[in-house]
Amino acid sequence: MADAMIEFRDVTKRYGALVANDRLSLSIRRGELMTLLGPSGCGKTTALRCLTGYVQPDEGRIFLDGKDVTDVPTHQRELGMVFQNFALFPHMTVRDNVTFPLMIRNLPKPERERLVLDALRLVRLEGYAGHYPRQLSGGQQQRVGLARALVYHPKVLLLDEPLSNLDAKLREEMRFEIKEVVTRLGITAMYVTHDQGEALALSDRVAIMNRGRLQQLGTPEEIYESPNSRFVAEFIGLSNFLDGSVDTVRGETMTVATSGLAIETRALPGAAAGQKVLLFFRPNEIELLPADGESGSNTFPAKVEKTTYLGDTMDYRLVIGDGADLRLQTDARHRYAVGEAVRVRLPRVRSWVVEER
Ligand SMILES: Nc1ncnc2c1ncn2[C@@H]1O[C@H](COP(=O)(O)OP(=O)(O)OP(=O)(O)O)[C@@H](O)[C@H]1O
Ligand SMILES: [Mg+2]
Repeated sequence: MADAMIEFRDVTKRYGALVANDRLSLSIRRGELMTLLGPSGCGKTTALRCLTGYVQPDEGRIFLDGKDVTDVPTHQRELGMVFQNFALFPHMTVRDNVTFPLMIRNLPKPERERLVLDALRLVRLEGYAGHYPRQLSGGQQQRVGLARALVYHPKVLLLDEPLSNLDAKLREEMRFEIKEVVTRLGITAMYVTHDQGEALALSDRVAIMNRGRLQQLGTPEEIYESPNSRFVAEFIGLSNFLDGSVDTVRGETMTVATSGLAIETRALPGAAAGQKVLLFFRPNEIELLPADGESGSNTFPAKVEKTTYLGDTMDYRLVIGDGADLRLQTDARHRYAVGEAVRVRLPRVRSWVVEER
């Protein structure tokens, strides 16, 4: 890709029989923040290590700013890194911790001081230069880690689960801070996480990995609204799946037989009667109606199995047709009780996924 800052070209890394990265190809544009997202063990850290040079791929090439760096040693790759165990030096002040990367680069003292102050300002810690790590909160320590990674103005910033040691509230704050800093500096960043909320909130684009492979690459909206597989749909957000088979196809719509119901959806290209399909609905796309309310197309009787109060919304588990489960959320103003008969309206224009197996 012409404007790629980071490029993985068919990168494979094996550990014995295990393929940690399987022909991984990925381009990250200049100034883009891309998240690698996937379950534990899917190969995210391995990909990052291949990029840093800590790990040598068995096959494939890696490019940084158009240059093949596959055989270039780590310290010549000019990368800023923040890792899960961000390990500040405990016996050094914040100032010395942040100065460290500049010391090993032999920069003159006035230059060093200026860069350190800039970096501390960036993370709003200029008043803490003389503090020791033990005198800082977890979030402040994390920001020092970020300042240390940014102090020498790397072209690329790599972050591997940088927030996993923080509590939920701090994680969310730091999320926005990282995004803000990265955007302000126009830096290219690769961010590794297995937290889908973090990925959706932070990323320009998300790369979903599964078993060493790239499963889907897209903006947060694309990934959430049009997952290309059951794996992605399940990994991001809550989903309802209904297995069925195509009954009739009429122009743009088709009817799918599932759980004793006939559900209308957008027709798959080339769909034919008898074809197995997997219908997929997000919990917020299903309308919940009273049992005696209006009927109409794609509206089916259902029974409330379980309710959970979530403040703004109610979470319902329902049973429809001959026993299929459905989960949905509605605003909490109108409530239904466990055991109550209701109706649900399913969306007709829907992304769907064909069963992969
Ligand atoms: N040095 C190593 N030797 C042998 N196997 C390894 C090594 N490093 C990683 N692996 C294996 O490669 C696979 C991918 O590991 P990796 O650390 O990249 O996963 P990850 O996606 O970062 O997971 P997590 O979310 O848990 O950090 C795992 O099955 C892991 O056990
Ligand atoms: Mg990892």
